[in-house]
Amino acid sequence: MSFVTLVTFPMILRMDQSLEMVLMFQGVEHRFGKIAKFMVILAGLSGFYLIYEKGLSVGVWIMLFVWTFYASLLFGLEKLIFKKLFSKPGEQANMKKVFNLLQGFHWFVLGLSFLAIAAGIYQAHY
Ligand code: HEM
Repeated sequence: MSFVTLVTFPMILRMDQSLEMVLMFQGVEHRFGKIAKFMVILAGLSGFYLIYEKGLSVGVWIMLFVWTFYASLLFGLEKLIFKKLFSKPGEQANMKKVFNLLQGFHWFVLGLSFLAIAAGIYQAHY
């Protein structure tokens, strides 16, 4: 999430052509999506094992909430959002707007990721 939000999106937003922007985005998202799906499955497996070992708590509910949001994005919701955003092949200005919106959304999800990390550390160590 950090890489896509802090490196990829600023790179895309610096591009001039909307076709170039969409191609770059699709290329990265395709690869990122595969890795992210694998990681979300791993986090789920290790998380449910940890619940079995240590039990439920407020911090775990926060992690579960973030994880469910992630999983629903990666396994369906994201496709619907992209379909809506890219259905009208827009002009230059329109594409910039779409990618600005997407970057804002990625900042939001990155914030949620840090919240899950903080909740995990707090629950496990304090
Ligand atoms: C969104 C992704 C997630 C992140 C970034 C995350 C992060 C963390 C971190 C950093 C810890 C502390 C590990 C340590 O220092 O020992 C932790 C602990 C834990 N996580 Fe997660 N987690 C995530 C998802 C999940 C999910 C989906 C579950 C449950 C299904 C889960 C259940 C737990 C449990 C039970 C603990 C141990 C808490 C304790 O010691 O009482 N986590 N997590």
